Amino acid sequence: MACYFRRAIAEQVSQILGVTSEKIIDHVHAIPVNRKRSSPDFRLFLKSVLDDPADAAFYQEKIEKLSDRLVADSVVSNFGLTRGLLTVTVNRPLLVKKVMHKIRQDGFRYGFTSELLSGFPKGLTLVEYSSPNIAKKFHVGHLRSTIIGNFIANLKEAAGNKVVRVNYLGDWGLQFGLLGAGFSKFGCEDKLKTNALQHLFEVYVKVNAAAEKDEEMKQSAQEFLRKLESGHPQAISLWTHFRDLSIEEYAKVYKRLGIKFDEYAGESFYREKSQDVLNLLRSKNILKITKEGTGVVDLTENGDLSAFATVMRSDGTSLYITRDVAAAIDRMEKYNFDEMVYVTDKSQQSHFQNLFKILKMLEKDKVDRCQHVNFGRVQGMQTRRGDVIFLEDVLDEARSRMLQNMAKAQTSKTTEYPEDTAEKIGVAALIVQDFKGQLQADYRFNWDEALQSCGDTGVFLQYTHARLQSLLTLWNTSEEEDFNVSCLQEPSAIATLQHLLRYDEVIYKTLKELQPRYLVSYLMGLGHLANVAHHSLHVKGSTQEVAHARLHFFNTIRVVLASGMKLLGITPVDKM
Ligand code: ARG
Repeated sequence: MACYFRRAIAEQVSQILGVTSEKIIDHVHAIPVNRKRSSPDFRLFLKSVLDDPADAAFYQEKIEKLSDRLVADSVVSNFGLTRGLLTVTVNRPLLVKKVMHKIRQDGFRYGFTSELLSGFPKGLTLVEYSSPNIAKKFHVGHLRSTIIGNFIANLKEAAGNKVVRVNYLGDWGLQFGLLGAGFSKFGCEDKLKTNALQHLFEVYVKVNAAAEKDEEMKQSAQEFLRKLESGHPQAISLWTHFRDLSIEEYAKVYKRLGIKFDEYAGESFYREKSQDVLNLLRSKNILKITKEGTGVVDLTENGDLSAFATVMRSDGTSLYITRDVAAAIDRMEKYNFDEMVYVTDKSQQSHFQNLFKILKMLEKDKVDRCQHVNFGRVQGMQTRRGDVIFLEDVLDEARSRMLQNMAKAQTSKTTEYPEDTAEKIGVAALIVQDFKGQLQADYRFNWDEALQSCGDTGVFLQYTHARLQSLLTLWNTSEEEDFNVSCLQEPSAIATLQHLLRYDEVIYKTLKELQPRYLVSYLMGLGHLANVAHHSLHVKGSTQEVAHARLHFFNTIRVVLASGMKLLGITPVDKM
């Protein structure tokens, strides 16, 4: 719908300048709303559509032509032209009608149906995220991968792709050797059943400490790992038991976050397939065996081995990167994806560069469609128990802090499920705090800051959504779509609709760069505008005609706010 206006503007300008409107339309942008004063709706820098930017006389001539010949019509009500910047104000009643109608028609798809997004290829996107390691800490890096990956998957899905969500669990390796060797001594089946993740971690820590002092324990851990590697049935059955219970519990915690995976295909799944990778590397003469008996791949152009990746231990077993090569090839074959996105912290950047290089050497062309989205480190995310060890702890912390805040605030309405509401708000706070900045940047996390109810926080977004929702429930909007557009001409209504006009551009940028901060700051802007409108455009005491139009207007805001929040991974609450 914003495209409807862009097109109309482009067509007029095109006729005067003699440049095709296709070339112009991409440069017509909605103007960000200024909360202090009213502004035009669209802008176009002439420099972006005219060739030969150095020719001043040429420019002057075009500008004069434009200012002489641009005319107001049924779509455009006013043009402004200063120093090569064209600004356009569109017909007010038409703006109200078009924006509201489109949002009503598209609902949660609003923004994604825009022509602006038509250039993005659609197909199958595989997103791999979260990927914690069983029996080890679920650290903040895993938390970030979980919420960022979920956001990317949501966004790609909304943009019309089929999305496969994969959790590449760390479910193989020495920690299982230790668990296998020490569980009979330090473990407890009942505890395992009630809280697998916590118990396995405790046992792992104990066996690890024991193995450092006790050579026998160390030996038996290695022995157990060997058994596992060779597929010994008893070892495998214990490992399966640990793994199954862990996955069950992960799934429960992910559910609290509103996150689901299509597949838990962890590293263990690629144990045998990584032997095929080693054979393939051998057959292509890419595998070099060192003096120590390890297998490496030379990553240099000139073959001097100044950069290499170790893909095989001297006992013939695979490493992290070998399993990643196997997993990538397997996914290429199994899904024939159009793109694959890996989400981890930036410490794994060189790992993924090496992985992509090896895949290229193996002539796996799809590697060009693989992307590593990386993010920075977080400091200061502590829970009452100390550092983050389990995802559950972070969620409990967010919930209990939020419950406390809700109890303190008098404005809070008593809800039926305070715990559930507190959790949804707490998670929103966490997500917004994390998504506010550039993903690659490191930042310091602060609970008090994240949980403030005013300011740019997830709590504020939830609060705004709940307020709109209760207004709509209170007045019970009628389904009657027609409303009088002249009832929505106040500055606060117009500013909000102008902001809604820009949604597709924000989605475009967010998709292009896979950076949630554009969407976050847009939603903050929408929240502020909604609150201003809420204060000035009363429903109570208005005539039926005005009340009807205003309720429609508030519902329009609510739909876009809720849909943006859901993309971020937030479940909007109706009451708080
Ligand atoms: N489990 C790994 C870790 O905790 C992350 C896995 C990332 N994905 C991958 N395909 N290597 O560091």
